[in-house]
Amino acid sequence: MIEVISLTKNYPGCRALDSISFKVDSGAMFAFLGPNGAGKTTTIKILTGILTPDSGEALINGISMIKDPVGAKKLCGYLPDTPMLFEKLTGMQYLNFIMDIFEVASGERPDRVNGLIDAFELGPHIDSIIESYSLGTRKKLGIVAAICHKPTVLFLDEPTSGLDPQSVRALKDTLKEMTGEGATVFFSTHILEVAEKICDRVAIIGSGRLVAEGSVDQLRARHNGAGTPAGALKSLEDIFLELTAKNPDNGPICMPA
Ligand SMILES: Nc1ncnc2c1ncn2[C@@H]1O[C@H](COP(=O)(O)OP(=O)(O)O)[C@@H](O)[C@H]1O
Ligand SMILES: [Mg+2]
Repeated sequence: MIEVISLTKNYPGCRALDSISFKVDSGAMFAFLGPNGAGKTTTIKILTGILTPDSGEALINGISMIKDPVGAKKLCGYLPDTPMLFEKLTGMQYLNFIMDIFEVASGERPDRVNGLIDAFELGPHIDSIIESYSLGTRKKLGIVAAICHKPTVLFLDEPTSGLDPQSVRALKDTLKEMTGEGATVFFSTHILEVAEKICDRVAIIGSGRLVAEGSVDQLRARHNGAGTPAGALKSLEDIFLELTAKNPDNGPICMPA
C-alpha cells in the first residue's frame, strides 16, 4: 500500500508539488498521468527516497520513506525514467548486484531472473557489458532489475518509453502477474491506452496538483458531461486532455515557490 499525504516539494523558484495526497491499495495497478513537467517524476523520487519533500509524508505499507528510508526501500522496486546502470558490468552481473543488495539467496536467483530474461528477450545480451546495449535493451534490463527481487511495491517511471511492442506486452503481462500475487504497482506513462487497459485506478496530476483520481469508469462517470454525444463514452485521452488543458484555472506548469 502507498499513502501520499500532503506532499509539497519546491525546487529553487518553483513549486513542483503542491500538497498532493492519494492512496494506492495493496494489489492495485495504479497509473500516474500528467503532462510533461506536471510533477510525476518528483512524486516518484520522493516515494522511492531519492528526494526529500519540503513537507508531507510518504508511506510504503505503513513505513515512512522519510523517517525510515532503508526499511521502506527494502519493500520497493524502482525503474527510473533514465535507468542508471553500471556500464562496465554485464547484464547478469548487474542483476546479481541488485539481488545482492536485496539479499536474494543464490539458490533462488535462477528462478527469479530466467523467466524475465526470456520474456524481455534479453538472452542474447545478458552476458555482454551494458556499455554495448541499445537504449531499449537498457530499459528492459532496468525493468528486470526493478522486478527480480520481488518487490512488494513497484515504481516505474515511464516504463513504456523506448520499448518495442513485444516488450510492452511482456511488461503488461508481468505487471498483471505481480498484482495478481498481491504486489502494488505504481507507474507513470504517457501511453493512455496502456493505463486505460491495465489499471485499476489512475491519478492525473497537473501543475503539481492532483486534478483527478479514481477508476477509469469513475472518471468517465464524473467527466462524461458537456460535449459528449448521447451514448458515447469519453476515452481516458479525452478526459486527460480536458483536465490538463493549459488554461488559467489549471495554472502554470511550475508555480512560483
Ligand atoms: N532539479 C530540478 N530543479 C529545478 N526544477 C526542477 C528540477 N526537477 C524538476 N523540476 C521542475 O519541477 C517540475 C516537475 O518536474 P517533474 O517532476 O520532472 O515532472 P514530470 O515527471 O511530470 O514531467 C517541472 O516544472 C520541472 O521543470
Ligand atoms: Mg518525468
